[in-house]
Amino acid sequence: MTAKREGEYLSFTMRSMVNASLQQGKDVIDFTIGNPDLPMPSAMLETLVNEINHPDNHRYPEGESRGIRAFREAAAVMYDRRYGVRLDPDRELIGLIGSKEGARYLSLALLKPGDVVILCNPGYPTYEPCAELTGADIYFTPLLEGNGYLPDLGQIPEEVFHRTKLMIVNYPNNPIGAAADVPFYTRLIELAKRYEFIVCNDNAYGELYYEDPPASILSVPGALECAVELTSLSKTYNICGWRIGMIAGHADTVAKVLDLKQYTDAGMFTPFQKAAAAAMLQEDGYLDWLRSVYRARRDLLVEGLRELGFTAASPRAGMFIWAKPPYKGSSWDISRMLLEQCSIACNPGSGYGSYGEGFLRFSLCVTEERIKEAIARMKQIKDDAHVKSDYIPVG
Ligand SMILES: Cc1ncc(COP(=O)(O)O)c(C=O)c1O
Repeated sequence: MTAKREGEYLSFTMRSMVNASLQQGKDVIDFTIGNPDLPMPSAMLETLVNEINHPDNHRYPEGESRGIRAFREAAAVMYDRRYGVRLDPDRELIGLIGSKEGARYLSLALLKPGDVVILCNPGYPTYEPCAELTGADIYFTPLLEGNGYLPDLGQIPEEVFHRTKLMIVNYPNNPIGAAADVPFYTRLIELAKRYEFIVCNDNAYGELYYEDPPASILSVPGALECAVELTSLSKTYNICGWRIGMIAGHADTVAKVLDLKQYTDAGMFTPFQKAAAAAMLQEDGYLDWLRSVYRARRDLLVEGLRELGFTAASPRAGMFIWAKPPYKGSSWDISRMLLEQCSIACNPGSGYGSYGEGFLRFSLCVTEERIKEAIARMKQIKDDAHVKSDYIPVG
């Protein structure tokens, strides 16, 4: 399978395009980045404000790169409560300055030239460049609707598995919104054990679900022998700017990541870690409220897009709608057209890989009022006799 990356990081490109439109005075409705517009839990903010007033909390954090003990303990409590997974906060879990850095450290820790890393197409655009740094070969496995947007593990050749040292999956999935369950993770763990590779699930959207709560890969028996999971607090608590995440699971891999991190950073800002710990220990209905906001946005956007002729599945989880537009042209063409003609910004599916061509990704970080406005604007395209010929509605 061929490489899928096109140019610079997709979010950078989209942000530049949105900024250029804003500078022209356009009223852009921005569905590009999963950058939440909602408040964090009040206890989290209160803890941050209290902790920031202590001069000691402005020193290098206790625990340095691994994270303060209170953060790691709270994360272990959260894993037990949410997923039924028991973790040793000293050996099986460390903090990350945003889960995004986890992909880089895992690649650097586990891959060398001649090894294989298995990634999914479409996929979150961070994994591929991280793997490329190591000189390892990348094998892309497609995520297809017919297989529930899970990799078809039976299609991956045995000789690929023999050379594989790392496989990264991402459920709940960005950009598609698919979720994975225990039978899939069980099969993955069996393969990882048989062929002796590490499997990582990027669980950045684990708390954003609208049907049954998705499982953690670590809940599969034996997972702690060969699997790790990345968790982000960015979307769970609406704190993308704080940069708080973690890697948990296989102790030896966690230690390898820490080996690299200790020479690079000194850990997350202590008040952020203490506030994150407070949020993870709290069970106050905040996450139910958060899910209800996204569920309402999801339903509104999916319905509106379908009325316009898009093919859009209602995602089981995550923060995005993955939709096939009713216009001719590549996904880049259509994304540019929507920005030019109705100041609606959304990501082209091909930015996530060749199997994303033909789709657009809409983030749910837009209010219901603005979603309605966006649908009304897009209706004009369909009804407008003067649209550019490249962008005429299909059918
Ligand atoms: C799949 C996936 N992993 C990781 C991240 C990054 O999360 P963080 O803010 O913790 O670095 C994102 C953010 O968009 C994501 O979509």
